[in-house]
Amino acid sequence: MQHKKHIPLDERSKSPVVEDYDVFAQCLQAYGESDLYADIETWLVEDNPYRRPLRPHVFKYLDFRKPLTREELLTYTSLTASRTLLTLYESDFVLLPRRDLASKRADLEEFYGRRAQVLGAVVRPWLESYLFSFLDDTISVSGRWTLASMKEYFESFLAEERRRTECPMASTLLASADPAHAARTCLLQLAGDFLLESSAMGRNAGGHYGPLQSEMFKILIDELGYGVHQTRHSSLYEGALESVGLASTPHTYWQFYLGSSLLLNNYYNYVCRNHGRFFRYLGALFQAETAFIALCRRMADTLRQIFGPRVDVRYFQEHAHIDGHHSRMVYDKMILPAVEMFGEGIIPDIVRGFEEGKLLTDIATQDFIDQVAWSDGSAHWKSLAPAIHRNIEKSHDKPRVQRFVEPRGELSVTHVHDGDELCFIQSGTMRFVTGHERSVLLHAGEGTVIRRNRLHGAIIESDECTYDIHSIGEVQRWLS
Ligand SMILES: [Fe+2]
Ligand SMILES: [Fe+2]
Ligand SMILES: [Fe+2]
Repeated sequence: MQHKKHIPLDERSKSPVVEDYDVFAQCLQAYGESDLYADIETWLVEDNPYRRPLRPHVFKYLDFRKPLTREELLTYTSLTASRTLLTLYESDFVLLPRRDLASKRADLEEFYGRRAQVLGAVVRPWLESYLFSFLDDTISVSGRWTLASMKEYFESFLAEERRRTECPMASTLLASADPAHAARTCLLQLAGDFLLESSAMGRNAGGHYGPLQSEMFKILIDELGYGVHQTRHSSLYEGALESVGLASTPHTYWQFYLGSSLLLNNYYNYVCRNHGRFFRYLGALFQAETAFIALCRRMADTLRQIFGPRVDVRYFQEHAHIDGHHSRMVYDKMILPAVEMFGEGIIPDIVRGFEEGKLLTDIATQDFIDQVAWSDGSAHWKSLAPAIHRNIEKSHDKPRVQRFVEPRGELSVTHVHDGDELCFIQSGTMRFVTGHERSVLLHAGEGTVIRRNRLHGAIIESDECTYDIHSIGEVQRWLS
């Protein structure tokens, strides 16, 4: 038999669909031309999983060509990429509203429609490289890994987890000026992932990969409550949200997700959707199941401390228990047998996934801590505005300024800026929003400092409001 000639990679014809940035940019813009993703006039979208503001009118000004670096993860372009990527990933999942499907039927058709599928297929891999390439540079798994060195590595992690006493998330909630608000903010950050819990994992249920597949399924079926709806982990999480007065339909709080929360959620889809990353997922899964044990134990106590007995902490109690098993199941029944079956060559992938999950979790935690601190400091940032404004007026080297005139009810969908900004009101009244049900009212002659990377939005509360946004770059420079 004659063998077909193998075509080396660099001799294959280049396809614009695969390689050409302009093709991607056109597809992204076309994808954004939809009511589903346009700006809205409310903060929340209840019970419609298809509608997600992406601020698509800004797409054409953004450049996704050069992958993000570690320092750029919280920029506006990154937030846009994360919002869009999660929307694309979730078009693989069954999402149905609880009520009134008839009025949302057209949204459903569009969300899952041919146009979104074709455009999404081009857009998704570009956004993935844009968001996640930094991991390749940040995390090094070089050197020769053996079964013994991997065991040593993971066992020292397990020992460290057992000794862990501090929990930055819990301490942040308790130390906040408004612990109940900080706790709700934390719960709604996690809701993006937890209300669809195990959906990314479920992408690995199909296929044909031997005993590992059955072990994966055992974990999956635990996550799904063995088919008993009330005990599904996502159902338990609905209970937690409702017990503190939050809505439990997915993505009601879309606008209040921090970029880093979306990035972490996207990461699990990133390693689960493309099965070439399966071994990385094993490492990431091991990290998540293990780190979750102590976190959930602390969260259950902390939420009780903040809200009293009315808070439903079953979700956290369940995980403090079951993830002890899941951690061992992933390690003993999946990671060790996988290395045995497929050889030591897969260890760097496993370790990479493990380190990536850990890094992205740390980044999300720190971003949350910074957002709570900034939001808690609203009065302080407001108090600085008049002096900064005077200093700008006196300065010969004035920062770039943009003026906006907006009518009552005009809502600025939440976003971030890449440098510090001064928002200053010339006339009228603006409600400046730093989180769900958290805002500060700004009148003429008042303003606030918007710190770099901090999520915010605004709504006009007078017949008209004229305000300026000064791109001050770094707030310290304008304080003296
Ligand atoms: Fe779970
Ligand atoms: Fe689990
Ligand atoms: Fe802004």
